[in-house]
Amino acid sequence: MKPIKEKFGGRLAVIWAMAGSAIGLGNIWRFPYLVGQNGGAAFILIYMAAVVVLALPIFLAESVIGRRSGCDTFGAMNKLAPGSKWKWLGLLTVITPMILLSYYSVVGGWSVEYFFKACCFSFDGNTQGLFARFISSTWAPIITHTLFIAATAAIILLGVKKGIELFTKITMPLLLVLILFLAVYSVLLPGAGKGVEYLVKPDFSKVTADVVATAMGQAFFSLSLGVGTILTYASYVSKKENLMISAGGTAFFDLLFALLAGMVVMPAVFAAGIRPGEGPGLVFDTLPYIFGQMHSVAGGIVALLFFLAILVAALTSSISLLEVGVAFLVQRRHGLTRQKATILLAILTWLAGILCSLSFGPLAHVTILGKTFFDLFDSLCSNWLMPLGGLLFTLFAGWKMSKADVRDELTNGGSCNRTIFGVAYFLIRYVAPVGIVVVFLTNLFL
Ligand code: PHE
Repeated sequence: MKPIKEKFGGRLAVIWAMAGSAIGLGNIWRFPYLVGQNGGAAFILIYMAAVVVLALPIFLAESVIGRRSGCDTFGAMNKLAPGSKWKWLGLLTVITPMILLSYYSVVGGWSVEYFFKACCFSFDGNTQGLFARFISSTWAPIITHTLFIAATAAIILLGVKKGIELFTKITMPLLLVLILFLAVYSVLLPGAGKGVEYLVKPDFSKVTADVVATAMGQAFFSLSLGVGTILTYASYVSKKENLMISAGGTAFFDLLFALLAGMVVMPAVFAAGIRPGEGPGLVFDTLPYIFGQMHSVAGGIVALLFFLAILVAALTSSISLLEVGVAFLVQRRHGLTRQKATILLAILTWLAGILCSLSFGPLAHVTILGKTFFDLFDSLCSNWLMPLGGLLFTLFAGWKMSKADVRDELTNGGSCNRTIFGVAYFLIRYVAPVGIVVVFLTNLFL
């Protein structure tokens, strides 16, 4: 196995890169529409609980495995549990991010399109059906999907420090400023108060088992868990860094972004008198309409900033997905060069993504198990492969690795976090695995 030479340069770089992976379409596109579909503030509270008791322990488990081994997912399993069946977990978590990237990049492509549209100030009050027409056409979404994958590959080609670290270090603080500005703008719109109320006044009568399972699934997706991304990034973290701080910092920023995205979308939706339960089209369909209604330069600029934010957030996540497979191919004994590995995987995910893109148009009638390619890939990843990966990572860190090794990683040889280690270990060993099994059972029977 070739040793990893590149490391992230310092605590902030680690947090920006990990937060860059976590903060993405899951926060700005998915979270607001899930909040809208699942009853507002009550969903948000359950989601927050899921982040703390379920997602954070998995995050720590992946961090421990990644930094302890210093390897890609497959290499990590071979190093920490040589000759065992755990290598299949390593392989699973090389494949899952590729499947995920293939449809994630299609939605990334939609944000490219909307960003270009916003650059041309082409949203007027008459945006009805625009989104449906765009995604169901053949070529336009394939072209934007291609652009998105190409941009992802270009950043990965530059390497861990000059690509991932530099890109996330520049864009993440910018994103924070953008989203803060947009949230303030949206909250100040006339009639926005109802939207804010919707986000802060919980109504628990709408909470069902399905809502709880959706919140848990979203916590997984949003924190990039169960697909080896955090493990791979943690392998680039130096021994000096405090893994609990990088995990806590990432979870904090990820939650902050989700809440701020909610603050951007919901007040605007309510101000325009639109119902929040619109579903996946909420951001792409409703917001351009709202911005267009403003009929002003300000509306146009806000639209531009909003779609820029989505695009950048999506890119900092997609690079982390591609990096998992690239790290795997590069670190094998006769591994490929970074260039070859990146190009090969980018082409494979691009091809699979074309199927996903066409499943809104010419291939809409082609279904497997009643699902189009896009829906199949999405439900396979979100409902099954990510929870499975997360479960196995916690079992690996909690039961396969020795407690002394886990303590050593989480406390940096006993020099920090000594008092909270016990709680973290308990969550990794018992609480998170049980929580994930509950998600599985709910997905199976509901
Ligand atoms: N967390 C990313 C988002 O919220 C998606 C993602 C999942 C990225 C898994 C990497 C790994 O959009």
